[in-house]
Amino acid sequence: MTPSRIILMGYMGSGKTTVGRALAKDLNMPFYDLDWYIESRMRKTVKQIFDERGEDGFRVIERNMLHEVAEFENIVVSCGGGTPCFFDNIDYLNQQGETVYLKCTPEVLHKHLSMGKTVRPLLLNKTPEQVKTYIEEQLQVREPFYSKAKHTVDVTLMDNYEKIKISVAKLK
Ligand code: S3P
Repeated sequence: MTPSRIILMGYMGSGKTTVGRALAKDLNMPFYDLDWYIESRMRKTVKQIFDERGEDGFRVIERNMLHEVAEFENIVVSCGGGTPCFFDNIDYLNQQGETVYLKCTPEVLHKHLSMGKTVRPLLLNKTPEQVKTYIEEQLQVREPFYSKAKHTVDVTLMDNYEKIKISVAKLK
């Protein structure tokens, strides 16, 4: 798949960044991780933005930065987990390129997130049990947005990112 923009979406811990970076390298296309782009443009971490402006403030910045990134052509983009679920972002993303939902069960997401070292503001100050319930509940709310992506790859049983990357690259 070599369209002008490949846009990866899915819940935190689904592998968007790892897969996107590897895919971009293979396809020789620049890679943009939306969170990293926000951090470099704002000169603040996502956590600092959440602390200073709350989630609502972060979502406004996220939408604005998304529109900036989407100006670029021939790119691979990994969105933040919430990006498609606010404003009209999902429709906008579908207009901008080939959107791919990396779908995963709450159990596997929970496993990935408990192994990861990245600070995720939405999961801070929660016990592992609370995180599990939170993921399950949030996925139900977000699934209708994610499922509007043009392509879905079920990554639940894919035990390494290489396999996921190959599946995404094969999409037509
Ligand atoms: C969020 C996911 C994060 C980041 C922010 C909010 C979410 O990105 O944008 O912490 O609402 O799911 P990742 O999915 O890359 O962790």
